[in-house]
Amino acid sequence: MSVQGIPRMYPGPVFGRADTLSYAGWEAAQTLSVEDGLEWVERAGLQGRGGAGFPTAKKLRLAAEAPATRKYIVINGAEDEPGSGKDHALLEQCPGLVVEGALIASLLVGAQEVIFYLSELYPSSSARVREAAAAGDIPCAAWSATHDSTSQSTELRIAGAPSTYISGEDTAALALLSGGRALPTERPPYPVTEGLMRRPTAVLNVETAATLAVIFREGPAWYCDLGTSSSPGTLLCTLGDELERPGVYEVEFGRSIREMLFSCGGQLRSGQAIRAVLPGGPSSGFLTADELDAPLDHASVRGLGSALGCAVFGVIGEDECVLERLLDICEFFAQEQCGQCPPCRMETNMLAKLVGQIRGGAPSILIDKLSEVVEFANGQGGICSLIGMPRLPVSSAVQKFRPDLEHHALHGACAPSHAR
Ligand SMILES: Cc1cc2nc3c(=O)[nH]c(=O)nc-3n(C[C@H](O)[C@H](O)[C@H](O)COP(=O)(O)O)c2cc1C
Repeated sequence: MSVQGIPRMYPGPVFGRADTLSYAGWEAAQTLSVEDGLEWVERAGLQGRGGAGFPTAKKLRLAAEAPATRKYIVINGAEDEPGSGKDHALLEQCPGLVVEGALIASLLVGAQEVIFYLSELYPSSSARVREAAAAGDIPCAAWSATHDSTSQSTELRIAGAPSTYISGEDTAALALLSGGRALPTERPPYPVTEGLMRRPTAVLNVETAATLAVIFREGPAWYCDLGTSSSPGTLLCTLGDELERPGVYEVEFGRSIREMLFSCGGQLRSGQAIRAVLPGGPSSGFLTADELDAPLDHASVRGLGSALGCAVFGVIGEDECVLERLLDICEFFAQEQCGQCPPCRMETNMLAKLVGQIRGGAPSILIDKLSEVVEFANGQGGICSLIGMPRLPVSSAVQKFRPDLEHHALHGACAPSHAR
């Protein structure tokens, strides 16, 4: 089912129809002016797939307009989000699309170098990128922070991304590629104006780049026929081993979440009914079973107090306690915060400690304290956005699954019906 632990990908209309080692999209992009090319991306409504959903056209335009003679594209394949497998699956199964999308981005921005920042856990990804580059006769070598190319034709470079969560954050990635440690840096300056080697740099997620290639192969109108008007196209959703058919599924935006989960992933292996779903990994909010008829799109999921993030779906059965899941999440953020910003360090550690106390039995006023901590921090006060990441899981657990927390506070254990 997988290569080196990379989940199998089930492609749909975007990634399924592509001949992955043709460069038709890149050729199409070369026939357009930069302005027309940027307009295609805008018309396609592409939003970044690295988690924040930033409009890709806006990012590319800002980097294109930044005055500099040398610019960079960085393709972010760090993929340290727990449970996520879509970027690795794409690199494994469609490396040509990723390379082609990166080349198109370089054309639109006026960048001479494209750096593939690839998780060190999956060495086969860099081999796939090299093969795809060779198929297009494009030079591809290892990245070195001391190398400063003067070439005017596009060159590809490959760099390893450490397996810490923070190293996928874009400024941390750029700090590492510049020869420093993988730690986030203050913005401004933003990478699009002053990124790698203090030159304009557009950082794009692997899936964003691959989608860009298909938009240029097929045209923005074709892409917009898929999905919904506010979220055109498709999304790669990672479904985990708790379901009968785990894997990475390409799904059109707009389908019901419930229908997507059942038709792609099947039932929970435990045979239990679904109690809750985290649709976007640990930084998303819990959805209740009743909320699963919502359409899979950014605005609808946000309206339910959650987020699609990079679409790693965690499915929680009727026999599971939400507090236990919340504790895992809070401990994860406390462990993965980089330690640079006192408010983030304090908030994440305090949340892990509070949830741990509630788990073992504590005055129920501590449950309200959880909400106070996330509201007080309000996602502000950190160099990067990690400080805001516990907000949705904590507030949704308190709001929608308070009885699980209350039971733990009172009895120091899960309610018998959720004690798996
Ligand atoms: C703590 C943290 C970890 C992140 N990890 C990743 C990652 O592994 N891969 C990724 O593409 N983006 C990651 N991001 C988001 C990047 O900072 C950046 O927004 C993204 O690569 C931009 O690509 P996009 O516009 O195509 O989404 C992370 C952000 C944060 C705050």
